[in-house]
Amino acid sequence: MPAEAIHSLKSFNTFGVDYSCRNLITVGTKNELISVCSKLFADSKPFFVLGGGSNILLTDDYQGTVVKIASKGIECHEDDEYYYLNVEAGEEWHQLVEYCLTKAMPGLENLALIPGTVGAAPIQNIGAYGLEFMDICDWVEFVDLRSGKLTRFKSDECQFGYRESIFKAELKGVTVVTSVGIKLAKRWQPRLSYGPLKQFEADSVTPEQVFDCICRIRTEKLPDPAVIGNAGSFFKNPIVSTTRYKKLIESYPALVGYFLEDGSVKLAAGWLIDNAGLKGVAVGDAAVHEQQALVLINKGQASGRDILQLAMRVIETIKNKFDVILEAEPRIIGAEGERELEDERTVGKKTSHYSSS
Ligand code: EPU
Repeated sequence: MPAEAIHSLKSFNTFGVDYSCRNLITVGTKNELISVCSKLFADSKPFFVLGGGSNILLTDDYQGTVVKIASKGIECHEDDEYYYLNVEAGEEWHQLVEYCLTKAMPGLENLALIPGTVGAAPIQNIGAYGLEFMDICDWVEFVDLRSGKLTRFKSDECQFGYRESIFKAELKGVTVVTSVGIKLAKRWQPRLSYGPLKQFEADSVTPEQVFDCICRIRTEKLPDPAVIGNAGSFFKNPIVSTTRYKKLIESYPALVGYFLEDGSVKLAAGWLIDNAGLKGVAVGDAAVHEQQALVLINKGQASGRDILQLAMRVIETIKNKFDVILEAEPRIIGAEGERELEDERTVGKKTSHYSSS
């Protein structure tokens, strides 16, 4: 039997770590995406679906097939109140934000400069500066690999939460997002709740001003993955009970937390990591970013394992200092598939199928 080709994934992950996969298939259309994934699934072949590679951490050479989504297309229609967009999964998110702005269909500007593809947006319900994907989502179309059926879920069926959706939970590993429907109100309502956006007046600000402001904030705080490898926030902001928050605030009065509707409190993990003195801490070329402690960076030659080890060190330190458990935002992918951070210390878990961003 001829040896299988090995494909480098270095340019397919924004951490820029150098691992490979056995097989790489780029799919340019929705139909191709559906048929390739359905076949791999039916044959019980290990595979994962890759979008922009901005939400993964590879820690080993992957022993399966990577399906790279490159399906393109944006269709628009409108009624009296809304613009409706039907966007293929392989479109770049930021390009979509710019496209909408140039076509005078504002509403996405708070989500400018988020790296990754449109198909990945609903999976972790991307969010930034007072806006989440769920706020502008009309529907999500996906293929159910068990039946090969194409299905559309309305936004309220997607079980969106903070960096969560049904595609990361119940439907994980058995579905691939193929396109999304976005609904933008013609009566544009700027979202100005986040710090630096408060300088604007709601009745005079333009979408372009909001867009420029977001781009400036992100560029100042977050490293550009094209220059310094990273995957945005590496940790989710942990959610704790009010009682727990009140106890913490007694010891750490400056602790940053946001009250949620259900009474729980979302803590700023960046604050916890910063205040534990971890900014700049490194394992090899992997380091905690100096400008935003929530981001882990590859200063050049870091391996995925260096980044993983650094993440474990951060988790351990935060657990010991604040008794708060941090969870990783990116998916960790080892030789045999997706794994949990905890697997580092326990036996590796085997996962054969899943989709990724
Ligand atoms: N903070 C520090 N030190 C730091 C970083 C943050 O003290 O090193 C404090 C800040 O001063 C601020 C608080 O922590 O009071 C929150 O920081 P920031 O506003 O920068 O936002 P974040 O909670 O760190 C979240 C998202 C970002 C998103 C921003 C803005 C998560 C995990 N991250 O970050 O999303 O851009 O809010 O809305 O929810 C991403 O997911 O990749 C991402 C960048």
